[in-house]
Amino acid sequence: MVKLGVNVDHVATVREARGITEPDPVAAAVLAELGGADGITVHLREDRRHIRERDVRLLKETIKVPLNLELAMAPEILDFALEIKPHSATFVPEKREELTTEGGLDVIAGHNRLEPVIRRFQEAGIVVSLFIDPDPEQIEAAAAVGAEFIEIHTGRYCDAADDRQMKEEFALIEQASICAANCNLKVNAGHGLNYRNVGPIARLPEIRELNIGHAIIARAVYVGLERAVAEMKSRLP
Ligand code: PXP
Repeated sequence: MVKLGVNVDHVATVREARGITEPDPVAAAVLAELGGADGITVHLREDRRHIRERDVRLLKETIKVPLNLELAMAPEILDFALEIKPHSATFVPEKREELTTEGGLDVIAGHNRLEPVIRRFQEAGIVVSLFIDPDPEQIEAAAAVGAEFIEIHTGRYCDAADDRQMKEEFALIEQASICAANCNLKVNAGHGLNYRNVGPIARLPEIRELNIGHAIIARAVYVGLERAVAEMKSRLP
């Protein structure tokens, strides 16, 4: 069974649009769990544009499923993560001006910075995943730096302009997931997945978990979060 990690960042985005306390991503996480989420993901960005420390603390105390914290290599965020000890940490690149995470980590260039941080997290009992593009060289670098999981960036597959490009991008993800399994890495995937494009990715045999946010929260506006999560779950094998 492929697991569904639900990213509730965009609930916090709506809250921050008003600078008040509602809607609460912690309440949303509880509803996502009721809808069948196997995990909850949040991204504590350096600019705190959606998720805040308070959310991560309360989520850690509240939810019953594993908490996955996405983070960049910023010292204060690393210290906070080590204090909170989420079930897993997914390292992502971060640019202040981007609308959302745009590309995968450059693990080859970042090896020397990543290695000691990954070791510290693992010693603290946190499972480490690296968000990378479907690129065999980056995958081999992720194995070499000591990560246990990778999350393959599905953004280019999701944003493909036509069927031909989508097939090409899918082939890259398929090859990348085989390459990762051969490197003894466990494989997750995510970014841009929605109710229409999730099927082929979910059916790749190496994929363990998909992290999906925007499509689920967008549908939840119409049908409610519990149902939106359950409908996404029903599309996973
Ligand atoms: N995985 C990672 C590493 C991400 O940064 C994001 C976006 O926050 C997602 C998955 C979820 O992407 P989306 O909101 O497009 O489903």
